[in-house]
Amino acid sequence: MPSVPHTFDTVPQVWPHRHLLDLERLTPGEIRLLLDTAAQLKEATAGCRRKLTILAGRTIVNLFFENSTRTRTSFSLAARRLGADVVEFSASGSSLSKGESFIDTAKNLEAMGIDAVVVRHSTPGTPHLLAQHLDVGVINAGDGAHEHPTQGLLDIFSIRERLGDISGATVGLVGDIAHSRTARSNVWGLLKLGAKVIVCGPPTLVSKRWEELGVEVSHNLDNIVPRCDVLNLLRIQFERQNTRPFPSVREYAHLYAMTGERLKRARKDLLILAPGPINRGVEVTADVADCPQSLILDQVTNGLAVRMATLWLTCGNRLPQTDQAGHAQPGLSAEGTL
Ligand code: NCD
Repeated sequence: MPSVPHTFDTVPQVWPHRHLLDLERLTPGEIRLLLDTAAQLKEATAGCRRKLTILAGRTIVNLFFENSTRTRTSFSLAARRLGADVVEFSASGSSLSKGESFIDTAKNLEAMGIDAVVVRHSTPGTPHLLAQHLDVGVINAGDGAHEHPTQGLLDIFSIRERLGDISGATVGLVGDIAHSRTARSNVWGLLKLGAKVIVCGPPTLVSKRWEELGVEVSHNLDNIVPRCDVLNLLRIQFERQNTRPFPSVREYAHLYAMTGERLKRARKDLLILAPGPINRGVEVTADVADCPQSLILDQVTNGLAVRMATLWLTCGNRLPQTDQAGHAQPGLSAEGTL
């Protein structure tokens, strides 16, 4: 596993971005640097429990326009673990309800001297739009069905922590691939690090077009279970669907829930992941969710490490090489520089 040893006094000069908007546009080296930094911060904070002060004096705003339990709390705690102040913005009690535009609201928050905005919104591309209008760092905490980069990173971090290497691992993403931002971030991150990715679910939720990216498409969970090193079990995102993609939840669970029976036909060391919230009995049964190979709660702990790394790399130090949109200047993000 490549490692970038550094102290936490300075942000590594090889980190060229102000924002974290998606994994699609990061290089493999940049993804590895994020994961390595998360590993070092996890260790330095005694498993994400102890506090550091490397972001003392910085202010992070959580701007969530969609429900969240884990991600919002995780970003707040990650910022606090590094000594930053956190402001929780709630859309319902704000001037958005008085007709103020989203961009004007964000610009007003920026004028109060904040350092980064963590944004979750149901419209894909919202963080990218904010990044064009703000000078502070923007971190995507989920934009519609598009991407959820820190979830992808924490899933990959959790796999790497167990397997030692992502390259060559076979990872099955099972469930509502069509509406899952977690699936999209996993696909980009895993492919860039050399994993074999299989997406599996009913034809109404898993398009054949994934094959164009080099991803295997399967509609039969029983066929793929014995071949996988990892299964990441994704929730049916009913909130993003206009029509029912299958006749009944019962029928879906019969075909696609990861059950104890199916686990018997898997490799002994198969790892079970789920981003949460999990619906026991739908995408995963309780015995599998709580089995020894389940990393579901490890993922939550590792989410703190990944978000600490994201905050520190993006707003620990402002790099002059970063352009207005947060993109690397030529030469700075080339693969191999890490
Ligand atoms: C995911 C999300 O919000 O996209 N959850 C999360 O961030 N922990 C997945 C989901 O809601 O199913």
